[in-house]
Amino acid sequence: MRCVLRRVRYLGQLLAGRSVFDSTLYREAELARLANLFAHVDIDRWTGLRILEVGAGLGRIGDAFRYLGFDVTSTDGRPEHVDRMRYRGCNAFILDLDSVHAEDFAGYDIVLAFGVLYHLREPERFLTSCGENARVLLLESCVSDSTQLDIPKVKEKTGWRGQDQALHAVGCRPSPTAIERACKNAGFDVIRDISSPIANWSQGRFDWEPRGNGEWRREDMNLRRMWICERSSKLTSSPRDR
Ligand SMILES: C[S@@+](CC[C@H](N)C(=O)[O-])C[C@H]1O[C@@H](n2cnc3c(N)ncnc32)[C@H](O)[C@@H]1O
Repeated sequence: MRCVLRRVRYLGQLLAGRSVFDSTLYREAELARLANLFAHVDIDRWTGLRILEVGAGLGRIGDAFRYLGFDVTSTDGRPEHVDRMRYRGCNAFILDLDSVHAEDFAGYDIVLAFGVLYHLREPERFLTSCGENARVLLLESCVSDSTQLDIPKVKEKTGWRGQDQALHAVGCRPSPTAIERACKNAGFDVIRDISSPIANWSQGRFDWEPRGNGEWRREDMNLRRMWICERSSKLTSSPRDR
C-alpha cells in the first residue's frame, strides 16, 4: 500500500509539471547514495583532482563535490538538463555516453557516474572510453541478480515519464560480475564494491541477498550496487605532475 501511495505521489508531482529530479524520491535517493559514498572514501586523497559528472540529470550528485571545493563539470545526454545546470552556474555540456570516445574524458581525473550505466545501450563502450583517461571511476547502477557476463538490453520509458531514462529508449541491466569485468578490462585494477544499507532508499536496495534468478527488481525496489574503481598506476602521480 505504501509503495502504491509513493508512486501516486510521484506521478502527481510529474503531472503537476515538476521535473523528475525535483521529486521527493530523487531527493531521498541523492542523499542516501551520497551518504554511502562519503562513508567509504577518504576525500582528502583526491584533493585537486578534476571531476567529470556524467548522466548528471541536474547535477546534484556533482554539487556535493562542488561544495567540497572540487572543480566539477557536469554532463548529460539531454540538452534540457544541461540548460538547467548552466542556468544555475554549473560548468556543463551535452555528452551522449552511447557515442563517447576516450578524448571526451581527457583532462578529467575522476568520472562520477551515478544512476546512468543501466540507461546505456553500450555500457562497455562508456567504461572503456572512460578508463583511457580517468584515474578514478565512482560508479553506481541498477544491476541484475546474476553472474552472467552477457548484458541484457531492456526497453525504457519515453516521453514525459522518460526524462530521466535512456536517451535512446534502450538500457541494460548488467550483473555486478559483468560490470566488474568491464571495469577491469577498461584498466581499473582496484575495484571496491562499497554497496551498503546506508545507500538504501525506498526504491533502491544495495544490501540485497543474491539469489541468482536474474531479477533486477525485488519487492518493488531496484537492485543496485556502488563501486569505487581506481587505476593504481595513475594514482601515484599528483595533479601537479600533469
Ligand atoms: C536516473 S538519472 C540519474 C541522475 C543522477 N546522476 C543521479 O544519479 O541522481 C539518469 C540520467 O542519465 C541521462 N542519460 C540517459 N541516457 C544517457 C546517455 N546515453 N548519455 C548521457 N546521459 C544519459 C538521463 O538524461 C538522466 O539525466
